Amino acid sequence: MKIITILGARPQFIKAGPVSREIRKKHQEIIIHTGQHYDANMSDIFFEELNIPKPDYHLNVGSGSHGVQTANMLISIEEIILKEKPDYVLVYGDTNSTLAGSLAASKLHIPIVHIEAGLRSFNKKMPEEVNRILTDHVSEFLFCPTDTAVKNLKDENITHNVFNVGDVMYDAVIYNQDIADSSTLLSELGLTKDDYYLITVHRAENTEDRDRITGILDAFAKVEGTKVWPIHPRTKNKLASYGINLESIPGLKVIEPIGYLDMLALEKNAKKILTDSGGVQKEAYFVKTPCVTLRDETEWVETVEQGANILVGADSKRIVEAVQSLCESNYPPIFGDGNTSEKIVKLLSEAK
Ligand code: UD1
Ligand code: UDP
Repeated sequence: MKIITILGARPQFIKAGPVSREIRKKHQEIIIHTGQHYDANMSDIFFEELNIPKPDYHLNVGSGSHGVQTANMLISIEEIILKEKPDYVLVYGDTNSTLAGSLAASKLHIPIVHIEAGLRSFNKKMPEEVNRILTDHVSEFLFCPTDTAVKNLKDENITHNVFNVGDVMYDAVIYNQDIADSSTLLSELGLTKDDYYLITVHRAENTEDRDRITGILDAFAKVEGTKVWPIHPRTKNKLASYGINLESIPGLKVIEPIGYLDMLALEKNAKKILTDSGGVQKEAYFVKTPCVTLRDETEWVETVEQGANILVGADSKRIVEAVQSLCESNYPPIFGDGNTSEKIVKLLSEAK
């Protein structure tokens, strides 16, 4: 089996860790890195620390408007598919790199494998929602992480080759959590276990809307104690353009984006996590740290149903209340058993 894997953004590198390892046991994988994320701490660091094989092709598309970025990827991915003639094109999640890969492959009639299929926020203003709906509708194999995702696809009449295999991010956590325990970042930052909050914010709906980001920052100022925030470059740039300075927020430590192993260590030892990230909501669940989600909707509804995650939007008062509230869960295993990558590769090879 020859598989072309399309990667481009931080969470996709992390998801590829366990899946690429599994593919390469018996099959051939060609990795295309679109270059959507390009800073060393948004890209190279993950390839190095997670031993992800070096990309065979690097498209260097960089940042741009949705149209420019996706179109540039599309042109190059099409050329590579024509040259490499893969059995499958594999895409992850819901970024512009995902959409470019699935558009290119679908027009060339190469079966698409979508990992993290079926997720929906039911908010089409989110660029990710458009990317994932379009990708799901042209995919041949739809690997869902949850029962909700399977149901979402059924509601759109997609039932062929839909499998709930669990979540590859859980595979990644299981594989890496012991290694992450040796992270020294907590002591370097002077953090004490269970005595700090971990923050991440990057979603367009929050960063592009001055009122929403102001509400969120107002809450950060009101939450007492130490808060550590590895800031996404989008958010850093946006705050600078608004003329907002984070130094006035008491107890806030803003740091550059960090590697995955350090991130796992910060997630595991935090008192609570405040985030608008999809991946971080799930990881909070995996490491059993209560989560406050700075969004109006979530694709990871099970985490909310289990009492592990509170959805609060960008309203300052609601955020502060959620941080102060008791958040308790038994954390039942709702994202599979950590063997998702193995299941995916087995299903694909059986179909060949
Ligand atoms: C993208 C995905 C989002 C995912 C996120 C993961 C889309 C539409 N969005 O959002 O679903 O949750 O990645 O982090 O695909 N930038 C840098 N250096 C980098 C990368 C980005 O400075 O290495 C800055 C640039 O100013 C860029 C901005 O961040 O314009 C946004 O980057 P982009 O990849 O377009 O979107 P993300 O917000 O990262
Ligand atoms: N992450 C990381 N370093 C950071 C912030 C996040 O390694 O400084 C990891 C995080 O642990 C998770 C993934 O990046 O595995 C989530 O990516 P992101 O929040 O950028 O995107 P999303 O999941 O929302 O698409």
